[in-house]
Amino acid sequence: MQIFGLDIGGSGIKGAPVDLDKGDLTQERHKVLTPNPATPDSVADGVKQIVDHFGWTGPVGLTFPGVVTGGSHIRTAANVDKSWIDTDARALFSDRLGGLPVTVVNDADAAGVAEMSFGAGKDRKGTVILLTLGTGIGSAVFVDGVLVPNSELGHLELHGHDAEKKASSKAREVEELTWEHWARRVQKYLAHVEMLFSPELFIIGGGVSRKAQKFLPHIEGIKAEIVPAQLQNNAGIVGAAMWAAHE
Ligand code: BGC
Repeated sequence: MQIFGLDIGGSGIKGAPVDLDKGDLTQERHKVLTPNPATPDSVADGVKQIVDHFGWTGPVGLTFPGVVTGGSHIRTAANVDKSWIDTDARALFSDRLGGLPVTVVNDADAAGVAEMSFGAGKDRKGTVILLTLGTGIGSAVFVDGVLVPNSELGHLELHGHDAEKKASSKAREVEELTWEHWARRVQKYLAHVEMLFSPELFIIGGGVSRKAQKFLPHIEGIKAEIVPAQLQNNAGIVGAAMWAAHE
């Protein structure tokens, strides 16, 4: 079975049809730049361009970088235009896509669902936490493979700051931190999350997971196993399609 997956990120909107049995894209993904400002209308235009590129006419799963309830209702928008808050994203995208069935899910939850089925979390029991270190920090918490949605651990307070402002990949770039310096911040953040949840496994996702060897060796004193995500940039697309299939 195939469903179209779309990942709305801080820099790009990416999508492709997904083979749900293999957890993989059936064609090379297509990407457009995320508009600035990333308002509901402008993002919906980008989404339409991608879906039209493939001539897709079936169900579509989309990720969103904020809290999403019921596959539709946007509750927060930390790193995109605030006009998203309280929008009915399902109605917005479905209208723009000529009535195609649409489901929307938090981006980290989508990545987590994909990693638990096809990547670093496959067959892992107990508490597993995926953290995406990107423009913000996203989180997906699983207990025996079951997701607790919209956990938003990126906004935990760390030394008086919103954690994602200090430990996201963007913070490393903006402050021009060395990998080692940034790794120490990530370590403090992981220690805080570990104090709260005592997970068996941390999966580190986001674009930075490709460079895991640059920072993971500098992280010490965490009891949980720490591994990079395996699906990397496609986790959101695959997870969005899986979520839509599930709904
Ligand atoms: C948002 C989360 C999102 C994460 C990664 C955070 O700022 O609050 O919902 O998962 O960024 O995009």
